[in-house]
Amino acid sequence: MRKVAVLPGDGIGPEVMKQAIKVLGRISEKYNTKFEFKFADVGGIAIDNHGTPLPDSTLKLCEASEAILFGSVGGPKWENLPPAQQPERGALLPLRKHFGLFANLRPVKIFKALIDSSSLKNSLIPDGLDIVFFRELTGGIYFGQPKEISEDRQSARDTMLYTVPEVERIARQAFEAAKLRGNKVMSVDKANVLMTSVLWRETVTRLHKEEYSDVELAHMYVDNAAMQLVRYPSQFDVIVTENMFGDILSDEAAMLTGSLGMLPSASLNEDGFGLYEPIGGTAPDIAGQNIANPIAQIMSAALMLRYSFKMDDAAADIENAIEALLAEGVRTRDIFRDGQGLRLVNTDEMGDLIVSRI
Ligand code: NAD
Ligand code: IPM
Ligand code: MN
Repeated sequence: MRKVAVLPGDGIGPEVMKQAIKVLGRISEKYNTKFEFKFADVGGIAIDNHGTPLPDSTLKLCEASEAILFGSVGGPKWENLPPAQQPERGALLPLRKHFGLFANLRPVKIFKALIDSSSLKNSLIPDGLDIVFFRELTGGIYFGQPKEISEDRQSARDTMLYTVPEVERIARQAFEAAKLRGNKVMSVDKANVLMTSVLWRETVTRLHKEEYSDVELAHMYVDNAAMQLVRYPSQFDVIVTENMFGDILSDEAAMLTGSLGMLPSASLNEDGFGLYEPIGGTAPDIAGQNIANPIAQIMSAALMLRYSFKMDDAAADIENAIEALLAEGVRTRDIFRDGQGLRLVNTDEMGDLIVSRI
């Protein structure tokens, strides 16, 4: 029995989570593996139902589980609460910190069938795209103290803080991953301005020299990296970067694959425990309409199978089913293009079709 804490959250979270659970149901049948899914409130819905974005019962459930499958949290209804009580700061960030989920893997792959949905011209992605971000997730400006706004609300500050061990452990993961892929790491920083980036670059360089000199390493300033991602993204293999840079660059990279609704992520700790979630948010503009793309959530479930349960074949089955469907021309609205003979489906239909191809 695989115990999974399922936290759908807000907005499109529950709509896309429903599809991921259907797909896991099919995997359970096919591989004769039992999953125990326990659902809990997190984020805005938890504020509404329990008065707090991360109820103790939800945290306890996560602690008692082998993996966390997460939707997304937040939305207009809760964004005027005091900051600490908001879904993002009050639930998602504390969850990441509590479980020490420092390594956020964000694979950015372009499915051949979606080349026309990319925000880039085909000619700029001649070799397709296969990048993986290693975003540091529990440090940097998201968590550094002090973090405050003055009482008169005339000034505010965040603190960007990194220690050598924090940089080293995420860089190590990036190097290890690169060895199994294209053997190239691009470390992205802002070492021409930020002291944390000076330390970052120093640490990555030293680790490379001491332990990973057979991996190709280069450094890039984050502003240039943002530009290079849309100029010629195929130059990248593994990108390792700090928390906020990774947040921003991965949303940018998502559009290269056609939609933010396509990209999954895995957030892992030192013991390999993981939380799996789409990189995008609750999409309030389309929530409740059954039109969101469930692929990011479903591929997050596939990452859970791969990393938490070592079910590589099952994960590949899911990814292949998605690839096959896209090749058949099945599209949710975000990746649909008129006049190309494509078949427009809603969230539920996309989930059902993926199940039917596994
Ligand atoms: P968003 O990612 O929710 O949406 C940005 C755009 O992408 C929207 O136009 C949306 O419709 C589209 N989009 C996102 N996912 C999609 C999908 N699966 N299918 C089709 N289109 C999709 O970002 P935002 O609007 O800046 O934020 C909305 C809320 O989500 C905020 O409260 C934010 O804090 C929260 N958020 C949560 C998480 C998370 O829980 N991990 C991540 C990002 C944003
Ligand atoms: C993400 C999100 C979160 C982040 C927010 C909601 C706190 O944007 O997972 O990318 O910035 O990490
Ligand atoms: Mn983000």
